[in-house]
Amino acid sequence: MRVFVTGATGFLGRHLVTQLKNRGDLVTAVGSRTCDLTSAHSLSQFCDPFDQIYHLAAWTQAGDFCLRHPGEQWLINQKINTHVLDWWKEKQPQAKLICMGTSCSYDPSLPLIEENYLRGEPIDSLFTYAMTKRMLLSGLQALHKQFGMNYLYLIPSTLYGPGYHTDSRQLHFIFDLIRKILRGVHYGEEVILWGDGEQMRELIHVDDFIEALLQLVERENHTHINIGGGREYSIKQFATLISEEVGFCSSQIGYDLTRYVGARSKVLSIQKLLSSLPHFQPRSLKRGLQETIHWYLDACSPTERK
Ligand SMILES: NC(=O)c1ccc[n+]([C@@H]2O[C@H](COP(=O)([O-])OP(=O)(O)OC[C@H]3O[C@@H](n4cnc5c(N)ncnc54)[C@H](OP(=O)(O)O)[C@@H]3O)[C@@H](O)[C@H]2O)c1
Repeated sequence: MRVFVTGATGFLGRHLVTQLKNRGDLVTAVGSRTCDLTSAHSLSQFCDPFDQIYHLAAWTQAGDFCLRHPGEQWLINQKINTHVLDWWKEKQPQAKLICMGTSCSYDPSLPLIEENYLRGEPIDSLFTYAMTKRMLLSGLQALHKQFGMNYLYLIPSTLYGPGYHTDSRQLHFIFDLIRKILRGVHYGEEVILWGDGEQMRELIHVDDFIEALLQLVERENHTHINIGGGREYSIKQFATLISEEVGFCSSQIGYDLTRYVGARSKVLSIQKLLSSLPHFQPRSLKRGLQETIHWYLDACSPTERK
């Protein structure tokens, strides 16, 4: 199979490219340095027909990044998505386009079921990023409606696992917890987490996500599907599990009520996923966290862990 991957240098992209190559696909993988998708002509160099296009590229980070960059996020992500959809329609209409959504696009006051993805309003702090992801789905739906083009739009909960970024970007909460607690262990630093610790979050291990994604791509067409772990935990529970794993006393953890916490609760319904893949069973949180912590200890020198 001939496959094209945008966002191939990102956290998900690196894992996906490895798995696509392992299954024998001929993979063309691009990141922003090899193909800047904000430029209208960036994709014109890719003329050979692809069977599948995985569009993972997006300009975002975790924490309060979206709150601080709403205008840039609108311009950059709208350009990226429009250029990919335009190239697909004009040059690659035979390909199935697989795109990534986000749980942030849901209105948190509604059940997080696929029928509600385009309903209500995303939370204010993530509004622009969330709306560009909604527009991406709207574009796919429109191109399917008018031209019969085939797509699949997958909505991950927060991804975790080995191989995350080790640069200075804003980390997804689970990597931030690991970093802070390890610094408590290694340097005796105070561990202070954002919010009251009662906010609930859900994770999906990146390899479990890809396993589900690759099976869904074979079975499902022109629809959108949540992929999550199916269960949420409080930040305190995550912190306790990490502390147990690395030998830190979790009662020493403090909470900063003045800091940004985002949505209070976020768990995707996975009924649609399970109706397509009834045997889907993500690994346990304990096992996934162990893998992630061990990777983190190997990948980041003590200075990088700062
Ligand atoms: N990680 C999560 O928990 C999560 C959850 C929900 C949805 N998602 C979605 O899943 C997808 C992958 O997420 P991720 O965590 O792998 O993201 P990531 O690590 O931030 O990677 C983003 C990718 O997009 C590329 N990119 C950014 N700007 C670009 C541009 N102007 N032109 C071309 N490529 C550009 C980056 O290239 P460079 O490396 O060259 O900068 C990188 O390869 C994204 O669409 C994201 O919205 C992720």
